[in-house]
Amino acid sequence: MIETTLMIRDDAPIGTISPRLYGHFAEHLGRCCYDGLWVGTKNAVVPTYNGFRKDVVDALKAMPVPLLRWPGGCYADHYHWRDGIGTAEQRAVRLGMSCGLQVEDDNSLGTHEFMALCRLLGAEPYLAGNMGSGSVQEMCDWVEYCNTRVNTNLARERTANGSAEPFDVVLWGVGNENWGCGGNYDAESYAREYRRYATMLRHVEPRAQLVACGHDDAWNLEFLKTNQRHLGLMDHFSIHRYWINGGTELDFSEEQYYTLLAEAEATEDFVRRTAEYIRESLGTNTHKVGIALDEWGVWHPEARSWGPDNELHRSPITYEQAGTMRDAVATAIALEGFHHQCDVLALANLAQIVNVLHAPVMTEGAAMWLTPTYYTLQMHTPHLGAMALKVDVTEGSSMPGHVNAAVTATASTGQHGKTVTLVNRHFSESASVRLAAGAVGQVVNAMLLASDSPRAVNSAQDPDCVKPVSLAVQADGAGQWRLELPAHSIATVVFG
Ligand code: AHR
Repeated sequence: MIETTLMIRDDAPIGTISPRLYGHFAEHLGRCCYDGLWVGTKNAVVPTYNGFRKDVVDALKAMPVPLLRWPGGCYADHYHWRDGIGTAEQRAVRLGMSCGLQVEDDNSLGTHEFMALCRLLGAEPYLAGNMGSGSVQEMCDWVEYCNTRVNTNLARERTANGSAEPFDVVLWGVGNENWGCGGNYDAESYAREYRRYATMLRHVEPRAQLVACGHDDAWNLEFLKTNQRHLGLMDHFSIHRYWINGGTELDFSEEQYYTLLAEAEATEDFVRRTAEYIRESLGTNTHKVGIALDEWGVWHPEARSWGPDNELHRSPITYEQAGTMRDAVATAIALEGFHHQCDVLALANLAQIVNVLHAPVMTEGAAMWLTPTYYTLQMHTPHLGAMALKVDVTEGSSMPGHVNAAVTATASTGQHGKTVTLVNRHFSESASVRLAAGAVGQVVNAMLLASDSPRAVNSAQDPDCVKPVSLAVQADGAGQWRLELPAHSIATVVFG
C-alpha cells in the first residue's frame, strides 16, 4: 500500500483551463465520421438528429465536447469543401483518402452538416483547410462562404443552402501535417507557403485564428526562423503527439504499461519545449502564439501499419482499437500536463472522437458503448474554465524504476468550487492518500474510476465493465481529507 500526502496550493495559481483544451477531432477516416457520427437521414437502424446518431450525440454532449476539429487529418489535404454543399444530387462522389485508406465518399456530411453537429454538441468548430491539393483561393472561398456578412455570391449560396446566418468559424488550420501527408514540404518552404495563405485568409476574415503546422523540434525551429518577421500571421502552432510504445492494446506487460504512461507524461515536455521556442522567436514581439496540440492520444499497433511492434496484428487496418483502463490513466496523466501548461497550450484535440484510435465512444450496428477514457474526460468537467492550481506531492512513493510519484493530482478552483483529480499510476498497488485541500467547505461530489485490471475494457457485450462509482472521502483533521485509491485508478473530488 502506498502512503502519500498531496497538498493543493491555493497560493500557486497557474492560469485558466480553457475549455478548448478538452477539444476533439472528427476525421473522415474509417468509421469515425461515417457510421460513428453520421448515418444519414434515411437510416432505419438507429434514431438520429437529422442524420447524426442520437445515442452518440447525447453521450458526447454529456462528456462534453467544447471544440471539434474537422474534416482531417490527412483527409483535409484532399478535401474540397464545394463537394460537400448543396442537395444530395449536387454532392460529388470522390475518393475518400486518409492514412492509406481509399473509400467511396459521397460527401453527405459536409460543411452545413458539420455546423449542425457543432450546434447539437455545443462545440466550437475548428476547420482544417486544404493546402496539399487545394489553393489559396479555394480556402479563402471556404472562409468567405462560412463567415461573410457581405451579400456576395458565396453568401447567397450559403443562404440558398439553408444558412442565411454566417457560421462565424474562428479557428482555421492551414493544412495538416504538411511535413508528411500534407505535401511532404520542408519546414522552410511550408513557412513561405503558409505566409501567402495566412496573408490572403486574413484579408477575407480578420477575426480568424490561424493555425500553422508544426512538427518536431527541428521543423519547429526552422519554421519559426523562416517566419520570424511574420509571426503576427499565426495565432496557434499545431503539434501532434501519439503514444505508440506501450505494446499491444490488451496484452501488454507491466513494463509496457509504464512505458505508455511515460509517453503520456512526456507530452507536457513537448508542449513546454515548443512554447519555449515560440517565446524565443517572438522576443520583444507582444503578439501571442498559442500551441494547438490538435491531435493527441494512444495509437496501438493493432490500428497502424508503421512504428514499433507493427507486425500485422489486425487486417485490414481499420484504425480501431480497444480502449482500456490503462489508456484512461494515460489520458488523466496527459490532462494533468495540459493544466500545468494552460498558459501556453491554447487548444487540444483528442484523436479521434468516435470509433477511431483513442475514441471515447464506440459503436457497432445499433450498439454504442463508452470507453474508460470517456469517463476520465467526463470526470474532468468541473476543471473547464476554472483556475488551475499547483499540487505538491509532499510525501509518497514513486513507481517502480521511476523517480515520479505514483500518485499525482491536478486541482482547480472555479464556479463548481474546488476540484481535484487524482491518479494512482501504480500498476498493482493501491494508495492511501492524505489530501491537504486548503480552504474548502464540504465534499459535494466524489467519483472513482477503477478496474480489477489495467487491461479492462468496455464492449458492446459488456458496456459497463469500467464505470465511475462514488468514492468515500473522510475528513482527517483541519483542511485534511483521506481517500483510498485502488491501483491504476482515477478519482475526482469536488469541494463546495
Ligand atoms: O489521426 C489519424 C492521422 O494521424 C491523421 O489523419 C493525421 O493527421 C495523423 O498522422
